Amino acid sequence: MRIERNAKIDVNELNNLLKSIGWGLNSSQKLEEALKLSWGWVTARDDENRLIGFVQILSDGIKHAYILRLLVHNKYQGKGIGTKIMENLMELLEENNLSPVLLTKPSEEGFYSKFGLSRSNKGFISLFKW
Ligand SMILES: CC(C)(COP(=O)(O)OP(=O)(O)OC[C@H]1O[C@@H](n2cnc3c(N)ncnc32)[C@H](O)[C@@H]1OP(=O)(O)O)[C@@H](O)C(=O)NCCC(=O)NCCS
Repeated sequence: MRIERNAKIDVNELNNLLKSIGWGLNSSQKLEEALKLSWGWVTARDDENRLIGFVQILSDGIKHAYILRLLVHNKYQGKGIGTKIMENLMELLEENNLSPVLLTKPSEEGFYSKFGLSRSNKGFISLFKW
């Protein structure tokens, strides 16, 4: 297994990864545009170079980095790949002095807490319009 930062991705591979976890297919054009808007991403590939994990980062490169779409292929989950991606991602953000910000479900809080991410109690609030 290989973890890489900002390595070239074919959007069809990304779509296959999304499909494997039931997040539905996006148009290739939309995915291309979404990748171009990223500050960066981290990927995991198996020994046959198949894309098996991905996380995307949005940031202006100054203060915060928004983490989204952490995905591990359904057949590869529970093997430590999500952990390796997150460790690499946290190092990348630290090297660039960026603070991670993440929106997730309560059921995933335990996973992210392993990397030092916790609910903010420093006076911040979250505002949304669904
Ligand atoms: C969440 C996800 C990225 C984790 O990746 P993974 O490769 O399966 O995780 P790991 O094998 O590295 O697991 C690390 C630890 O987190 C735990 N864990 C994994 N998924 C978890 C979840 N959804 N909630 C809580 N804990 C979880 C594992 O049990 C393991 O615990 P351990 O270290 O005590 O054994 C993966 O399950 C996934 O892609 N899920 C679907 C997409 C998704 O929901 N993404 C996150 C929301 S943005």
